[in-house]
Amino acid sequence: MRELKITPIKNGTVIDHIGNGLALEVLRIIGVRELDRDSTVSVALHVRSQKIGWKDIVKVENMELSPRNVNAIALIAPTATIAIIRDFKVQEKRAVDLPDRIGGVLKCPNPSCITNQHEPVESEFEVARRRPVVLRCTYCERLVDEFLPNLA
Ligand SMILES: Nc1ncnc2c1ncn2[C@@H]1O[C@H](COP(=O)(O)OP(=O)(O)OP(=O)(O)O)[C@@H](O)[C@H]1O
Ligand SMILES: [Mg+2]
Ligand SMILES: [Zn+2]
Repeated sequence: MRELKITPIKNGTVIDHIGNGLALEVLRIIGVRELDRDSTVSVALHVRSQKIGWKDIVKVENMELSPRNVNAIALIAPTATIAIIRDFKVQEKRAVDLPDRIGGVLKCPNPSCITNQHEPVESEFEVARRRPVVLRCTYCERLVDEFLPNLA
């Protein structure tokens, strides 16, 4: 079967190879509501992929991802690739990757953690395990392996 193509974008970002069903979470992370009114956002759900079976794709015009958003995407969609499009061409493409420390992306699920005490302390986690990802809060050492409910 021939793949149905989405209209090409001139400038923007393509987030490809998103695990099946996770595109809506990716949209939540990048906050598409705040996008400029002239930007088209295309979402393809359940697309056949050679690499990962089924995948989702998100294409956003006129937007580049902040490092914080890349980290959040790496947590919930670790197979994703990010391509920067300039003048209709792929300028740069890379897999998302998780740094050893992740600040400000997730809330610590421990209610007694200092990062939840109205102190001006930003949350920070270190990677305790990579496959599958487990994070450890730098402050209270709580282990976190579920990210969607804890996105800040
Ligand atoms: N102008 C464009 N507008 C919208 N999407 C684009 C544009 N150019 C490339 N893409 C998309 O960006 C992604 C990366 O492009 P590339 O040409 O590297 O894809 P590819 O050859 O399928 O590589 P791979 O799937 O291995 O990452 C693909 O999802 C492609 O469909
Ligand atoms: Mg491809
Ligand atoms: Zn904590």
